[in-house]
Amino acid sequence: MILETERLILRNWRESDVDCYMALAHDIGYNCFSPPGAYLVHDAEGARRQIRRRMALFEQRQMAKFPIFLRDTGEFIGTYGLEPAEVEGQSEIELGYRLCLKYWGSGYATEAATAVLRYGFGDLNLRKIVAFTVQQNRASVKILQKLGFRYEREFLHAGLPHRLYEMTRARFAK
Ligand SMILES: CC(C)(COP(=O)(O)OP(=O)(O)OC[C@H]1O[C@@H](n2cnc3c(N)ncnc32)[C@H](O)[C@@H]1OP(=O)(O)O)[C@@H](O)C(=O)NCCC(=O)NCCS
Repeated sequence: MILETERLILRNWRESDVDCYMALAHDIGYNCFSPPGAYLVHDAEGARRQIRRRMALFEQRQMAKFPIFLRDTGEFIGTYGLEPAEVEGQSEIELGYRLCLKYWGSGYATEAATAVLRYGFGDLNLRKIVAFTVQQNRASVKILQKLGFRYEREFLHAGLPHRLYEMTRARFAK
């Protein structure tokens, strides 16, 4: 599976992506606004386990938070994609995005979103995709607003109030 935009390539995880996983696990920007230690691995074997988990999810559901690379240089810059998530006991599909700090502020997150949403609503035929963020994460709120996600309500996630947003296939198609 490969998704391409003007500047970016998103593709399936491979077992050989250990260095990418180690980079994200130790990047301060990537780990902002995540539950502490959520992506932490201590060695290559730990990274390989996380990659295999992501590969298995793709096998089962054709979705993942995919690794993103710059087309020009091949640099790994972060992850973007779709994963199942539970919101107040309800099964949803979540849009999730995280970039390593060096790559913030260049419009990459907004650019990748279009390809991922097209994949979700088109190839996967999803009816609805949700996203959530703490209000203090101004960049994340801005991205969801720019993409046309609708604010639904506040809910508790990982013990913190989060803003829940959703996009429907019908709205995305407009
Ligand atoms: C959220 C994140 C993916 C944004 O990536 P990015 O490529 O820098 O985002 P973009 O450049 O596409 O868009 C960000 C928008 O937010 C705006 N923005 C950034 N910081 C802001 C701030 N502190 N206050 C208000 N707006 C802000 C930018 O100006 C831009 O809007 P614009 O295009 O209208 O100028 C990145 O900051 C990140 O990885 N953060 C850590 C992980 C994370 O928080 N993920 C989301 C969890 S819900």
